[in-house]
Amino acid sequence: MTTFAGKYGPWALITGASEGTGAAFSRRAAAQGLNCILVARREQPLRELAAELQRDQGIETLVVTADLAAPDAAAAIIEAVGDREVGLYIANAGADTVTARFLDAPVEAWLGLMHLNVTTSLQLCHTLGGQMRERERGGILLLGSGVSYGGMGGLAVYAGSKSFMLSFGESLWSELRPYGVDVLNFMLGRTDTPALREILARNELPPPEGLASPDEVAEAGFNHLARGPILNWGQADDEAGMSPVSPAARRERMLAMEAIARTVIKT
Ligand SMILES: NC(=O)c1ccc[n+]([C@@H]2O[C@H](COP(=O)([O-])OP(=O)(O)OC[C@H]3O[C@@H](n4cnc5c(N)ncnc54)[C@H](OP(=O)(O)O)[C@@H]3O)[C@@H](O)[C@H]2O)c1
Repeated sequence: MTTFAGKYGPWALITGASEGTGAAFSRRAAAQGLNCILVARREQPLRELAAELQRDQGIETLVVTADLAAPDAAAAIIEAVGDREVGLYIANAGADTVTARFLDAPVEAWLGLMHLNVTTSLQLCHTLGGQMRERERGGILLLGSGVSYGGMGGLAVYAGSKSFMLSFGESLWSELRPYGVDVLNFMLGRTDTPALREILARNELPPPEGLASPDEVAEAGFNHLARGPILNWGQADDEAGMSPVSPAARRERMLAMEAIARTVIKT
């Protein structure tokens, strides 16, 4: 079980695979010999990526078109996956495409964002994580942000959803590590994706200097997969950055919490 494919194969499932970081994660997974389940709303870019991965890496692909903001998305994806063994789940899609102050957009838009960022990911973690625990191997990569560590005006629901996923993902790291399943919360910095460019254009803002590239992000995520529960883009493990505490300190806290948890729940 020493190779990447041995630990995280034979299939990877990547949401938001049609562009940006999702496409970069998919290319990297395929280069490691993993078959790829590519999920997003637009079929055409997914089919083009699938053809590229099959041609260049000789792997198998499955294209699944789904709106992750829809309440039945996870069930439809699980049905499409069938009996394929997913050893790596990358919850990538999840930017705030609403980008408004909380009261200035309809509540339906925020509920959609909660489904996209929380409910659908949670459901997929439950099914796919359960199968990984059974097999005693696998990995879950949850994409977060600097606002996972706290609020920010103009991003209220996005920040709340990412904060939820951070606490959830840390807890999952603790629950699954005895079974050899890795969980990593990867907090991105500003990354040059089509989604970010679109948000900037809509707000009539120029792209800032020093954006990370999707390829760099995918490489860092894969390199740190086994060193959860947290990676902050561009920062060392003992550096706090946007958080009040560093990943190293949070890992120590999680290990201390495991001891406390054992006194109140049977884990
Ligand atoms: N870019 C940054 O600067 C930045 C910074 C911090 C954190 N992050 C995090 O990094 C991740 C990727 O961000 P991103 O900038 O690439 O934008 P994104 O909108 O999260 O990702 C774009 C991808 O997600 C798919 N997608 C979006 N909404 C979807 C939906 N409702 N259902 C199914 N697929 C959907 C898009 O394809 P379709 O349009 O075909 O559906 C596309 O493939 C996110 O979790 C984000 O929060 C990004």
